[in-house]
Amino acid sequence: MDTARHEAAVVSPGVDDDPTAAVNRWVIGPMTALNRDILAGREPPDAFPAMVQHAVGPLLDTPERYGPRDTCQLLVLLGLVGAGLGRHFQERHPAHRATPERAFDVGVGVGVEPIGFLEYFHRLAEHSGTGHPHRDTYASLTRWNLPPSEAWWGGARLAVLPGVFDDGALRTYTAAVDEVRFFELIKLSETFERAVNLAVGPLADGSVDLLGAEALHRLGVAALLLEGMRKLNADFAALPPAEGLSAGHFMDVFRQFAVHWRPGDVPPSGALDPEALERDLVLGTEAPGFREHLHRMGPGLLPAERDRLAAVADVPALTELVLQRCDPEDGLAQATQTQLRMLVGRFPVLAALHLVLQANARMSGVHLMLSKRYLFNPQRARDRSGYGDPGVVSNRRGTTGMDETALEHLTRVRQHHPLVALRGLPTAELEVLTGLAALRADAPGDLSAAVGFDGTSALRQRPTADDLTGPARPAEGAP
Ligand code: HEM
Repeated sequence: MDTARHEAAVVSPGVDDDPTAAVNRWVIGPMTALNRDILAGREPPDAFPAMVQHAVGPLLDTPERYGPRDTCQLLVLLGLVGAGLGRHFQERHPAHRATPERAFDVGVGVGVEPIGFLEYFHRLAEHSGTGHPHRDTYASLTRWNLPPSEAWWGGARLAVLPGVFDDGALRTYTAAVDEVRFFELIKLSETFERAVNLAVGPLADGSVDLLGAEALHRLGVAALLLEGMRKLNADFAALPPAEGLSAGHFMDVFRQFAVHWRPGDVPPSGALDPEALERDLVLGTEAPGFREHLHRMGPGLLPAERDRLAAVADVPALTELVLQRCDPEDGLAQATQTQLRMLVGRFPVLAALHLVLQANARMSGVHLMLSKRYLFNPQRARDRSGYGDPGVVSNRRGTTGMDETALEHLTRVRQHHPLVALRGLPTAELEVLTGLAALRADAPGDLSAAVGFDGTSALRQRPTADDLTGPARPAEGAP
């Protein structure tokens, strides 16, 4: 094993380096190189635990001695290290998949008094005070890992998703551009989702009058933000191969790090995106069985995320509230076009919410397309060719077990939302009626530019008179 090359960046930390920065440098440099070498067969899989013990172990202090920021940074860093330990262990022998926890007790004592890796991670998670699960999570891998991101509209900052590093960098498994772009897509999409939830939340919690002008404005902005998110995701799929994500990398490199650390635990997955879960609850687009799904996802979420979702799940969805206020006598489904027109003329909020639900359904359609393109279609081709599904993480379904049928079903539920009858009226007419057309006219052509990392949103410098919410509410989900 070329030990010197893999540990080089760590064994000689700069004089100004603190120990966490040295772990960070090892993860960004030598660890990604080692992962690449193992995957290419240039190093054996057991080189990974050996290097963790040898190069990372001595850099780690007793978990309880770290301050809050270092603790959270180490949860991200050791989350990536743990993913490597787990994957390489399981790939060594098929029988290892039944005992994933053994990946962490083979020669990986760390700390000034050597402690097993799982115990070390557990103590770090407890010490963080965030309730972080005792393994890597969607939150640490994407939200905490990447630089802070923001959503801007009309000169107002609508949402912030902080990170726990201030180096402007992001950490990956193999440093491939595929992973960089994918992580960026996830965090920027979640930023859009946060802004949408903050825009519509006050309508659902009763702090904004459903029949007032502010409700229309907020729903209009939410619809356009969802359109921006859809464009961001559609553009991602259109990136040239050298700049984007290849299906092979997604299936054989990236996904294979989302292994179990203990039998039955919940590995990181887009299914744990708390903003998407909240949006389904607030908009009332939950599929049958959604509450059970939420319960199953619980162990992979942060307590703050679980609490927020429980609070939203406890109150009626926005669609229900709007329908109660507008009281369409015989329901919408039986209404003629003339009756629908009269109804939305009287209650434009119905049309504004319909436009949000439509934008949400279209976003879901693009997400389904991405899942087919990068996972389900190529896996079908592999099954037909006899290659099968040999990885330690199955490519026949998502990490938390959702298959293609489940994602198709979710998209259909979002398409057949409770206001779907309003599709009988031309969209352009509804956009004028609700004021969305005017908002669009004032917005930049590329709505995906509403989000960016650390002040890079193109909409940041465009102050206008009609700021949506004033200063952003504090963002949750990060310490
Ligand atoms: C190349 C891009 C993407 C691919 C290939 C992809 C693939 C998948 C797969 C396979 C699942 C099933 C997960 C499981 O069983 O655990 C899933 C679910 C999910 N993903 Fe993605 N995803 C992508 C981008 C995104 C983005 C950008 C977000 C938003 C931050 C996101 C949010 C979700 C959510 C919320 C679910 C749960 C299902 C749903 O609500 O529709 N995904 N995705």
